[in-house]
Amino acid sequence: MKKNIFILMLCNVLWLSCNSQTNINEKYNLMPWPNDIIENTSKFIINSGITISINGEDEGRVYKAAVNFLRRLSNRSGVFIDKGFPITNEKGNIIISFETVSSLSINDDESYALNINNNTITIKAKTDVGALRGLETLLQLTANDDAKYYFPGVTINDSPRFVWRGLMIDVSRHFQPIDVLKRNLRAMASVKMNVFHWHLTDDQGFRVESKVYPKLHQLASDGLYYTQIQIKEIVNYASDLGIRVVPEFDVPGHASAFLTAYPELSSKEDYNYTIERYSGVFDPTLNPTKEITYKFLDNLFTEMASLFPDAYFHIGGDENEGKHWDENKDIQAFMTANNLKTNHELQTYFNIRLEKILKKLNKNLMGWDEIMTPNMPKSAVIHAWRGENEGLIKGGSLISAAKAGYKTVLSNGFYIDRMQSLEYHYSVEPIGNIKLTEKEHANILGGEATMWSELVTPLTIDSRIWPRTAAIAERFWSKKEVNNLENMKLRLNDVSYKLEELGITHIRNRDVILRSITNNQDISTLIDLSKICEPLKIYERNKNGVEYKTFSPFSLFADACVADAEDAVIFNKEVKAYLENSNNESLEVVKKSLKKWSNIHNSFQEIKINSKIKDLESFSENISIASEILLMGLETKKKISLNNQTNLTLAINVLKEPCMDVELAIIESLEKLSQFLLQV
Ligand code: ACM
Repeated sequence: MKKNIFILMLCNVLWLSCNSQTNINEKYNLMPWPNDIIENTSKFIINSGITISINGEDEGRVYKAAVNFLRRLSNRSGVFIDKGFPITNEKGNIIISFETVSSLSINDDESYALNINNNTITIKAKTDVGALRGLETLLQLTANDDAKYYFPGVTINDSPRFVWRGLMIDVSRHFQPIDVLKRNLRAMASVKMNVFHWHLTDDQGFRVESKVYPKLHQLASDGLYYTQIQIKEIVNYASDLGIRVVPEFDVPGHASAFLTAYPELSSKEDYNYTIERYSGVFDPTLNPTKEITYKFLDNLFTEMASLFPDAYFHIGGDENEGKHWDENKDIQAFMTANNLKTNHELQTYFNIRLEKILKKLNKNLMGWDEIMTPNMPKSAVIHAWRGENEGLIKGGSLISAAKAGYKTVLSNGFYIDRMQSLEYHYSVEPIGNIKLTEKEHANILGGEATMWSELVTPLTIDSRIWPRTAAIAERFWSKKEVNNLENMKLRLNDVSYKLEELGITHIRNRDVILRSITNNQDISTLIDLSKICEPLKIYERNKNGVEYKTFSPFSLFADACVADAEDAVIFNKEVKAYLENSNNESLEVVKKSLKKWSNIHNSFQEIKINSKIKDLESFSENISIASEILLMGLETKKKISLNNQTNLTLAINVLKEPCMDVELAIIESLEKLSQFLLQV
């Protein structure tokens, strides 16, 4: 008996500790989740008397962050903060202390300790950037009851798992003006990301002003480029947020734009070099056997290095198939004379020459994983984009690079332009269970989400990056054990709408697009449709006859839709719960959704149709047919009539096919319900 009581008590203790662990995750919408959080019973009430003091030799970063913090806090809480502005040499009730100003290197300390009690909040950090990270955490803790806003009593000790937590934005395929970059930098800082990788050149455009080689921006950008003043503005803006800027100048391939300006550097003469309008991999390639190529790159990189203070300089190096090298007799002769047996060896020769140029400029060369060849110096940083990692398939190029002694950064699994699910990206574990020595482990610097811009413009880019990148940021910052998908989704819902405070347009621009599509008619039906449709994944949008180019429209129905369509995510979960556990609450949610969708076609017909939505007509009709039949089946619990079975099958077959570059994200659930009802 005693033994039983003891076991019962033990179970209780275990249950309580597990439960409080779950609760704490559900209580605070923190993202990334911190290393260590302990609750206390205090509450710091947010009132007009809030003041911030800064203890540390601030060079402006913390002051600006504190002013920004107060603006966001007063907006969020509705509190009329009185003085608030950061004060020095006086004790505020929020006290920020730090020891040194960060030079923004990969060795910088970003840890912080945050303590909240009834009267005082302290943020202590080794560096000013650590203090910034602490301020973001504090802001995420803002809570309210029906009478007031407050910060809950907690003590948090936090530091990142990886030193490199990046977002790459491709501004070549579609140019992104500086206000787009600034709002994304603010969003990055809000989830503690610290590297902005700026993919500045590609076949479709060279996007930086060069005073040394002005034809680059004059002839290869359609006039859409950043002036050097704007580049500096972005670098400074990022620095204020504790974000490093790593520029990428993609060579020797992806060079159509480059060679449009300076064809004398090409590998093929008598070729019509023009700015590329399509997406894909193209032949124009710099000539690695001519000395003028190196002289040019030396001058260009010297000019560009002065704009980008970061220690890393990305040279791309990806997807060079070397077709023009194969066709050029002089290049072939050069290869023979220099004992370079393959195009890869020739590219390594080129990369090593660039490495020397960059070393002279105090820059570390970084490149996509194609640069990892046997002769490539170990000082190069390998950006792993091919080969999957643990959790998917063992040992992609990240692990090979780390084992071979290179520093490396992971992007495979974080290609957010592929429109894959949040679940997929969140489950990518950079190291997983692969056994690495301490040194190999230290070679893995972190990861980057990559936003290639073939299919986005400033109107839609945010909705492809956010909120998913916040979950990826958690993967890079938080401990490996922080991996509960459902809990992450709860926290992400909160983070998502708060990103709007920072100017991110991922939610609001859906309506902007739908208003434009309908010529400003009632968009509620299209909103409902967009919540169950997702843009085609993994570049399928560029198949089946439609090929998107630079000036194609990116304001179509598919552009209003996003990955993880919100109503579909809920519906799919409830259908699963109903079919697996006969859960009645789930059944009610399922029926309610089907009821709504059974009416969707009626309301769709009220919209005056135009060529941009015409093809959605049969889609909405079939959604309504399928929903109505399934609803009837679930309500009556009777076998579906033969006639309706035929109609249901026909509707589902239509809905399985993409329509206007979207897929119906509830199709599998509709099929499962249909199979279930056929067995009744
Ligand atoms: C790449 O996606 N070509 C790096």
